[in-house]
Amino acid sequence: MKKTISLFLLVGLAIVLLAFTGRELDNALQSIIRQNGLNQHAPVADYSDAKVELGRMLFFDKILSGNKDISCATCHHPALGSADALPLAIGVGGEGLGAARQMGKGRERIPRNSPDIFNRGAKEWHTMFWDNRVSGDIMAGYESPADEKLIAGLENILAVQAMFPVTSRDEMRGEIGDRTVNGEINELALISNAMPQVVWHRLMLRLKKIPAYVELFEAAYPDEAVQDLGFQHAANAIAAFETEAFTFHDSPWDLYMDGMTNAIDESAKRGAVLFYGKANCSTCHSGNLMSDQQAHNIGVPQLGPGKGTAEPLDVGRYLETGDQADAFAFRTPSLKNTAITGPWMHNGAYNSLEEAVRHHLDPKLYLQQYDASKLPKELQASFQDDEEVAQRMLGQIDPALQVEKPLEDKDIGDILSFLYALTDQSALELEHLVPATVPSGLPVKD
Ligand code: HEC
Ligand code: HEC
Repeated sequence: MKKTISLFLLVGLAIVLLAFTGRELDNALQSIIRQNGLNQHAPVADYSDAKVELGRMLFFDKILSGNKDISCATCHHPALGSADALPLAIGVGGEGLGAARQMGKGRERIPRNSPDIFNRGAKEWHTMFWDNRVSGDIMAGYESPADEKLIAGLENILAVQAMFPVTSRDEMRGEIGDRTVNGEINELALISNAMPQVVWHRLMLRLKKIPAYVELFEAAYPDEAVQDLGFQHAANAIAAFETEAFTFHDSPWDLYMDGMTNAIDESAKRGAVLFYGKANCSTCHSGNLMSDQQAHNIGVPQLGPGKGTAEPLDVGRYLETGDQADAFAFRTPSLKNTAITGPWMHNGAYNSLEEAVRHHLDPKLYLQQYDASKLPKELQASFQDDEEVAQRMLGQIDPALQVEKPLEDKDIGDILSFLYALTDQSALELEHLVPATVPSGLPVKD
C-alpha cells in the first residue's frame, strides 16, 4: 500500500516538475521573442495574378538563357527547396536537375552554392547574394554590378537581383561561339560584358517574338504599350512570382510565436533558448529573417574554382570592398526552411546540417579536419588543403563565434530540433508550381 502511494507521489511530482520546466521554457521563450522583436512573418505585397503568372513562365522558361538550356528553376527548383541540391551550381551547358545534374564539356562549376530563395520578398531585405553585391532599397536606390547601367523602374531588391543571372556568362548567358540547343547562334553571348543593357534589350526582343509572351505582358501591364516594356518589367514579374510562390510563415516555430505553445516540442524549445542565448547564434542569424545581412568570416573550407582575382580562392565580400576585414566573409544566410536547403554554406561544403552547425563551434577543427571525399568527385581536388590559407582564414575569424561554455551533444541535438522546427510543411509540397509547358515550347521538366 505504502509503495503504491509513494510511487503515486513520485509520478505526480515528476508530472508537476515537467509541467513546471515546460512552463519555464515557454516563459523564457516569450521574453526572447519579445526582446528580439520576433513574430510570425507578416504577409507580403499582393501582386496581380497576371503578373505572377508572367513571372512564373519566365522563371521556368529556358528562353532566358543564351543557349536556351537553363532556366532560373534549374538552380532554384520548387522540388529542391528552391535551390539545386548541389554544393556548387552547374550553369550553361549542363544537363539534368538536382544531384544528378552534369557539367557540360569544357565548363566550370559556378563558384558558389545556389541559395534558397524563401521569403526573399520580405520588405526587410536590403541585400542580395552571398557577398551583398546587390544592396539598397527603393528610396535610397540600388548598388549593383551594373552601376549606372541598371535600368530604372525596378520595384524591389528581388527584381534588381533578377536582372543579373541572365547577364552572367556562367549561369545563363554562355560564351562567345556557343550555339543554342536548336543550333542557332547564341546572340546574347556575343555582347560585351560591359553592356548588360544590350543583353536585357535583346532578351526582350526574344520574348516579344513569342505571341504568348506578348499576351502575358499585356495582361500583367495593362496600362503600358508592349513596345515600351523592358527587361525591368520581366524582372518585376519574376520577383512577384518568387514572392508569391516562396513566402512561408507557417513553420512550427512561426506557429509557436503566434501563440500555439504545443507547435514545437521541448527539445526545439530548449534549442531556441540556446540559439537566442548561450550559443550566440542570433548575434548573426538575427531578426525575422534570421540574418543580420552582414558578411562574416566563419572559416568555411575553401573549395571550387574560386572567384575573380583571388582564384582559386573565393574571398567573398572582400572582392566587393577591398577591405581586409571582409576577407572570406559571406552574408549570414537566413535559416527559415534551412533543413531542406542543403548542401550548406556559400559553397556547399557540408552535406549535413549537423556538421554545418558544429562547424561554428570549432571552425579551426572543422577546417583542419575537413573531409573532401564527401564532395562530388570532380570537386574533391579543388579543396584548398593548404595550411597558409587556413591560417589566413582563422587569423580573423568573427569573434561572435565564441561560445562561452562548450555546448554538449545534447545541446547540439536541441539546436537541430529548433532548426527543423523552421521548416514549413508547405515548402515541401511545391511541385504544383512547375508549369506543364512554357510559351517558348522549350522543355520544362529537366
Ligand atoms: C546556374 C544556376 C543559377 C541560375 C540559372 C540562376 N541562379 Fe539564382 N543564384 C545562383 C547562385 C549560385 C547564387 C548565389 C551567387 C552569389 O551569391 O554569388 C544565386 C543567387 C540568387 C538570388 C539571391 C538570393 C539571396 O538571398 O542572396 C536570387 C533571388 C536568385 N538567385 C534568383 C534567380 C533568378 C530569378 C534566376 C533566373 C533569372 C536565377 N536565380 C538563375 C544560381 C543560379
Ligand atoms: C559570426 C556570425 C554567426 C554566428 C554567431 C552564427 N552563424 Fe551560422 N552562419 C554565419 C555565416 C556567415 C554563414 C555562412 C558562411 C559561409 O558560407 O561562408 C552561416 C551559416 C550557417 C548555416 C548554413 C546555412 C546555409 O543555408 O548554408 C547554418 C545552419 C547556421 N549558420 C546555423 C548557425 C547556428 C545554429 C549558430 C549558433 C550555434 C550560428 N549559425 C552562429 C554566421 C554566423
